[in-house]
Amino acid sequence: MAQVTMTVNGKAATGDIEGRTLLSAFLRETLNLTGTHVGCDTSQCGACVVHVDGEAVKACTILAAEAAGTEVTTIEGMANADGSLNVIQQAFQDHHGLQCGFCTPGMVMSAAALLKENPKPSEAEVRDYLEGNICRCTGYHNIVKAIMAASGQDVAAVAAE
Ligand code: FES
Ligand code: FES
Repeated sequence: MAQVTMTVNGKAATGDIEGRTLLSAFLRETLNLTGTHVGCDTSQCGACVVHVDGEAVKACTILAAEAAGTEVTTIEGMANADGSLNVIQQAFQDHHGLQCGFCTPGMVMSAAALLKENPKPSEAEVRDYLEGNICRCTGYHNIVKAIMAASGQDVAAVAAE
C-alpha cells in the first residue's frame, strides 16, 4: 500500500492504495464519489470520464498513483456554487439528454471539456467528440441537442438520428 494525494473537486484527497488501483476505483471506493461510473473498465464506454488538470480522461485508463498531485474534477464538482445544476447539466435535463443516467456523468464531463476547447461546436463536431462515450438508451440525439443548447446554439436544426 502507498499513500496518494490529489486535489479532487477543489479539496485535498488522500488515501492508501495498492499500486494497481485505478483512478476510477480510488474515486469511487476510497473517496466514495460514486458519480463517476464504471461501465467497462476497458476504456470503451466513457462512463468514467473525469477531468485531470483540465483534460478529459477516462478514469479507468490511469492509475490513481499517476494522478498524484493533479487537480481532478468529477461530476460531483460540476454543479454551480449554490448547488444548482450547471448550464450543461441543466441542458441535459431540459432536452431529455438522459434516460437511465448511467452514461450521463461521463457525457457531461466530456461535453464540458469539448465546450472549453470549442465553445460553439457544430453538430458534427459534437458527435465526433462523443465517439468515446457510449449511451445505450438515448440514441444520442437528445444528448447532442443538450450540448448544442448548452453552447447557446439553436437546437431546432439538430438532425434526427
Ligand atoms: S469504465 Fe472507463 S471507459 Fe468504461
Ligand atoms: S442514458 Fe442510459 S446509457 Fe445513456
